[in-house]
Amino acid sequence: MKFNKWVLITGVSSGIGLYIANEMVKGPYRVIGSVRDRNIQYKTLDPRVVLIEMDQSSETSISNAFQVINQILGNEKLFALINNAGIAVPGPLVELPIEQFKEQFNVNLFGVLRCTQLAFPLFETGSRIINISSVSGLITSPFTGAYSSSKFALEALSDALRRELMLLGIKVILIEPGPLKTKIWQKNLGVGENYKNSVFSDVLARADAIIEETERNALPVEAIWPSINKALELKNPSNRYIVHKRAWMIKILAHFFPSKYLDQMIFKNLRSQNHKIRPI
Ligand SMILES: NC(=O)c1ccc[n+]([C@@H]2O[C@H](COP(=O)([O-])OP(=O)(O)OC[C@H]3O[C@@H](n4cnc5c(N)ncnc54)[C@H](OP(=O)(O)O)[C@@H]3O)[C@@H](O)[C@H]2O)c1
Repeated sequence: MKFNKWVLITGVSSGIGLYIANEMVKGPYRVIGSVRDRNIQYKTLDPRVVLIEMDQSSETSISNAFQVINQILGNEKLFALINNAGIAVPGPLVELPIEQFKEQFNVNLFGVLRCTQLAFPLFETGSRIINISSVSGLITSPFTGAYSSSKFALEALSDALRRELMLLGIKVILIEPGPLKTKIWQKNLGVGENYKNSVFSDVLARADAIIEETERNALPVEAIWPSINKALELKNPSNRYIVHKRAWMIKILAHFFPSKYLDQMIFKNLRSQNHKIRPI
């Protein structure tokens, strides 16, 4: 096993990024981790993680960050880029401000592509790109359409990238987690307040309760490690790893279950929450 391999992880201030950065510095990796604000003290982050500042939604910020990364690496190569930083913008698509939809894509997709482009010259044969997608990139739920669209797009981007980079011996791997206990859930509490006058106000009034229940049932963040480890270490890793209590069920729902049936299940579920069908 080669030691001291450089890995760049985006978004190490909390959640999955923080956890995997801390795990990786214990192993054969040197980790560069990006945060949006270096002035904040990240007390739970291992001090061996080399911090850089990067805002995924800003082209300039990403370019500046890569100048620093190039200096840190010198003549050395980057073993892996883990595109982890992400946001989840909730809301009904017919009413979601278009700027919020764009921000969702700026962070979860365009930022990922820009980082990948700038990391590319630093790679060598055997390097890997690990993209943190979601089961929302396989199955779409109502009121998380912006997030799901960004993750479906990330899935397609990753497939295309893998089929291009396979010619150069660079692996592209998707990690597709279901709910994990991180801050991403709390960040969306109060969304119902923004849609008080919405045609969906009665459903969205329950959003906080649904978010809290999802978070309660979520897997601990540690559940992601086996997939990350395989993506990093296996000579021939899988193209995608689902991280979910019932990964098999996600595969069936995503690939074999007719979407009409899925619509009906979701419809019944929304109606059971007393959602009235209003003529518009
Ligand atoms: N937790 C889950 O249940 C789950 C499930 C499936 C997929 N995922 C995916 O996992 C990834 C990590 O999410 P998480 O659950 O660990 O959530 P999290 O705790 O909210 O972490 C998100 C990270 O992304 C960073 N970030 C957000 N906007 C950014 C921007 N504009 N520029 C740079 N960094 C930015 C955050 O930095 P700040 O602290 O500066 O905001 C933070 O470090 C995301 O891509 C998410 O879609 C999570």
